Amino acid sequence: MSDLKGTQLGAPAPESSNGNLRHPPARREPRNQNPVRRFCRAVSTFRTGSPMLQDRYVEVKRLPDHAGEEVTVAGWVETTRVHGKVAFVVVRDGTGLVQCVLLGKDLDEATWETGTTGLTQESTVEITGTVKLDDRAPGGAEVKVSALRLLQQAEAYPIQPKEHGVEFLMDNRHLWLRSSQQRAALRVRSEVMQAIHDFFYDRGFTRVDTPILTGAIGESAGTLFSTDYFGDTAYLAQTGQLYVEAGCPAFRKVYCFGPTFRAEKSKTRRHLTEFWMVEPEVAFADSDDNMRLQEEFVSYLVERALDRCAEELEVLERDTSTLERVRPPFPRMSYTEAVELLQAKGSDIEWGRDLGGADETILADENELPVFIYNYPSQAKAFYMKENPDDPRTVLCNDLLAPEGYGEIIGGSQREDDLARLEARIREEELPAEAYDWYLDLRRYGSFIHSGFGLGVERTVGWITGRPHVRELIPFPRLMNRLTP
Ligand code: 4AD
Ligand code: MG
Repeated sequence: MSDLKGTQLGAPAPESSNGNLRHPPARREPRNQNPVRRFCRAVSTFRTGSPMLQDRYVEVKRLPDHAGEEVTVAGWVETTRVHGKVAFVVVRDGTGLVQCVLLGKDLDEATWETGTTGLTQESTVEITGTVKLDDRAPGGAEVKVSALRLLQQAEAYPIQPKEHGVEFLMDNRHLWLRSSQQRAALRVRSEVMQAIHDFFYDRGFTRVDTPILTGAIGESAGTLFSTDYFGDTAYLAQTGQLYVEAGCPAFRKVYCFGPTFRAEKSKTRRHLTEFWMVEPEVAFADSDDNMRLQEEFVSYLVERALDRCAEELEVLERDTSTLERVRPPFPRMSYTEAVELLQAKGSDIEWGRDLGGADETILADENELPVFIYNYPSQAKAFYMKENPDDPRTVLCNDLLAPEGYGEIIGGSQREDDLARLEARIREEELPAEAYDWYLDLRRYGSFIHSGFGLGVERTVGWITGRPHVRELIPFPRLMNRLTP
C-alpha cells in the first residue's frame, strides 16, 4: 500500500512554499481516451445518427414554415376527390388539415392508382410532396404529392358526412372524437383545464390532490357510488372539498382538481355521473371574498378560451359577443329575492326549496353575465355551510348561474367553522358521525374563517363552446345509461 501514498486518490494536496494549498497539475489525457468524453460522443452520435420516427414528419400546422420545400406528412384521410387526372386528398394529422394534390401526369401508375382508389375514409397515409402556400387552402398550405404510402387501408368507416343519431354517435364515441366539432370542443376543454391550473398557480395556490376512494360522504347521501373495499364499503368521491379544507392550515390557499362522481338519476343535458371539478379553498376568506374570486376566475377562463381558441369557437359557430362582455363584477341576487322574482314570473317555487333547472334558466335569462344567487336556506344545502348570523334560516353560500340556459356552473360557500354547530348539522342530516370525525378535528385544532367553491368543467366548457349537452365536453362521458366506450 505504501507505494500508493502521495500519488493516488486521497493523497494530500501538496503545499506551496507560502503554506497555501496548490492544485496538483492537471494530468492531460489523450482526447479519445477520456471515458467521459467518449461517453458524450457516443450519446451524441446515437442521437444524431438515428433520428426519432416522429422527426420524419412535418406537423401540418407547421407546413407554412416549409414553403417550397419537400416534406413528408402522416395522418388520416378525411376526403378524396378525383377530377380527371387531378385528385385531391384531405389529410388530418391531429394538428390540422392539409389538402394534398395528385397530378396524374407527374406520378407513376401505382401511386396514382392508390391515391385515387385505395384511400378509404380514415385510412392512414404517409405523403411526400412540395409545400405550396395558398390562402384558400385550409391551414394556408397545400402539398403537391410526389410519393404516397398507404400505411393502413381503413375498413368502411361507420361515421359518414351525414346526420347520425346521437346514440349512434355516442356508441362510436371513440371514433366520433375525430370529427371537427368534437375536436374543437375538446380542444377548448383542454385549454380551459390548463387555464385553471395557470390561474391558481399564478396566484400562489398549492395543489392538493384528494382521494377518489373515500369513507366519508361529501355532498348528499342519495347520490353515492359505492364499491367493495376489502369487505368494507368505499365511496367514490362526490367532492374533494372536505380534504382540501385540511390543506388550508398547511398551505393557506389550496385547490384540488379531479374527477368526481354522482349517482344522480338525472338524464338532463347538465348531468354526468362522472365529471371534473376544480375546488379552491382559501383561509381567512369570507363568502364575499369567495364570490369575488369566482368572478375573477370565470372571467379569466372565458378570456383564455377567446384568446387561444378562436379557431375552435368558429368551427363550433359560437356567437362570442356575449362571452366578450364577461368580466367582473357579476350581478348578485339573494335567494330570497330570486324566489320573489320567480313567483312574480309564475313559478310555483316556495321559499325553502332548492332552485330547479327551469328556475335557474329564468334567473339566468334576466342577465347577460353569469349571476350569483347567494344565501340559500340551510335546509336546501349541504351540512358544512356557515350559518348566516343575520338570518340563521340561511347559510353563507352561493351558486353561480351561467347565461344562455347552461345553469349552475359553481357551488360555493363559507364553511361552518364552529365545532358545536357543525356537529349539530351532522346530527340533523343524520350523517354517519364516525366518518366525519377527522373533519371535525379541523375545527378542534385551529379553526378559522374559510371559503371555497367547486366549478364543474363540463358545464363551464359547455357554456363557453355553446354545445347543447355536457356529454360532448368530456372525451368519454359517463351517463346514467352509458358506461361504454
Ligand atoms: O354544487 P356542488 O355539488 O358543490 C360541491 O360539490 C362543493 N363541495 C364544491 C365546493 O364548495 N368545494 O357541485 C359543484 C359544481 C356544480 O356547480 C356543477 O358545475 C358541477 O359541480 N356538477 C356537475 N356537473 C356535471 N354533472 C353533474 N352531475 C354535476 N353535479 C355538480
Ligand atoms: Mg350545487
